[in-house]
Amino acid sequence: MDIKLQDQQPERIKTGLLAIPVREKRLDDPALRRLDRHLGGGLQARIKQIQFTGAEGSAFVYGTGGRIGAATILLIGLGKAEEIGADSWRKAGARARKEAAAQGAVDLAFFFAPDKDAALAAGAVAEGALLASYQFHKYRSDGKPHSEVRSMTLFRSGLGKPAALKRAIDLAVETVPGVFAARDLVNEPPSVANARFIGETAQRLCRGRGLSTEVWNKRKIAAMNLAGLLAVNRGSVEEPRFIVIRYRPRAKAKKKVALIGKGITFDSGGLSLKSGKGMETMKLDMAGGAAIIGAMSRLPELAPAVEVTGYIPTTDNLPSGSAQKPGDIIRYLNGKTIEVLNTDAEGRLILADGLALAAKEKPDCMINLATLTGACMVALGTEVAGLFSNNQPLADALMRASKEVGEKLWQLPLVKEYRDEIKSSVADMKNIGGSYGGAITAALILQEFVDGVPWAHLDIAGPAFAEKEMLLSAKGGTGFGVRTLLRFLTGL
Ligand code: BES
Ligand code: MN
Ligand code: ZN
Repeated sequence: MDIKLQDQQPERIKTGLLAIPVREKRLDDPALRRLDRHLGGGLQARIKQIQFTGAEGSAFVYGTGGRIGAATILLIGLGKAEEIGADSWRKAGARARKEAAAQGAVDLAFFFAPDKDAALAAGAVAEGALLASYQFHKYRSDGKPHSEVRSMTLFRSGLGKPAALKRAIDLAVETVPGVFAARDLVNEPPSVANARFIGETAQRLCRGRGLSTEVWNKRKIAAMNLAGLLAVNRGSVEEPRFIVIRYRPRAKAKKKVALIGKGITFDSGGLSLKSGKGMETMKLDMAGGAAIIGAMSRLPELAPAVEVTGYIPTTDNLPSGSAQKPGDIIRYLNGKTIEVLNTDAEGRLILADGLALAAKEKPDCMINLATLTGACMVALGTEVAGLFSNNQPLADALMRASKEVGEKLWQLPLVKEYRDEIKSSVADMKNIGGSYGGAITAALILQEFVDGVPWAHLDIAGPAFAEKEMLLSAKGGTGFGVRTLLRFLTGL
């Protein structure tokens, strides 16, 4: 979808769908009144009749009968004027895009008159519209996508030539393909998106222009002593992969950041087998790795002045005669040992390799993304990721980035006292805690492998995958984390 800016009066604009965002209880807006004069007063009459107030999330469609350039008008409620922010604009852009598709409109015009921070609003409208356009239809026999909206025009009279708006829109345009790449990887069936496929996809998406990608096979993984990944992979007939993606900026880097992503291509639980129901969505378990591949693939376009290395351990987690057993002990490259009492707590086992390896390069900070625990979903639901960190400035910076892009994070504590829960009688620690605080005990295990480096862990088990259609994403992979990471990295 093409996004354009145009200096134009609302009645003149020629389009399939004309979207007009309105503030709650501010329906006497001059633009709306002007438009209604051309419509013979019908619009205001309808607004009164159905008592449309412009409350957040409300919308209504009005056929113009050809009296103006647009075939259909869509009023979109932004909510209370004082509460309008990037989120409201992002949602309005998404609503407009969805309604245009539902109406079969090929082009869409969006009347654009924010009170303040026009660049922020323009970027958010564009991003919302783009995010809402995602579809994954390659496995449908009726194959064809829903009607395609080809262009979106942000317009207003007196808009002029606003370079800042253009820049904000470009930023959204360069970011969204990273989100879609992550969604595609998650949505692909787990027998297609195996470790080899993830490696090949990373290689295809992340090369050139300052990016390089290495994909290590089982032999190299063994040579590098990545014992957790080998242990989890033992139940599989397929080889694991360990992916390392490097981005170097053109100018000298101010900082070095490591990103680590959980890449379990299918989590059956292993010998500690999940229920049938419990594994229905377990192709989602590489969403952390997918988010890192997606984000890194856009770094050349967004060109942050930081060096970034992505580490993605990837395998499936399956039971078999060769699978690791409860009671087995893994010895890691940093010397630490973990007793595996539940093979379904496998994410921490492979992330430990990634964190230990990344820490050896002494980055300024490390951030890992993982669909790590059902417990985090119990705590925060499906829209909010848990954030854990040993460094408050890093946690604050991530919270800020996530707020700006509208991906919800909530900080949870690394409770020292709970370390007792992961004490093992035979090894340095065991891979599960007690009945409570499962998201925290999982984070505490990861913390054992960061070697004092400033580190943040995002447990994205809830928001990585949507079981119902959302405004900004279809059912399935959401690409959660890509936009937060990119905002964080470009803001450093
Ligand atoms: N991949 C799961 C966590 C998960 C569950 C993600 C549901 C998304 C939706 C993880 O590997 C897992 O199985 N965790 C266990 C840990 C337990 C065995 C300590 C869990 O949360 O039940
Ligand atoms: Mn598991
Ligand atoms: Zn898992």
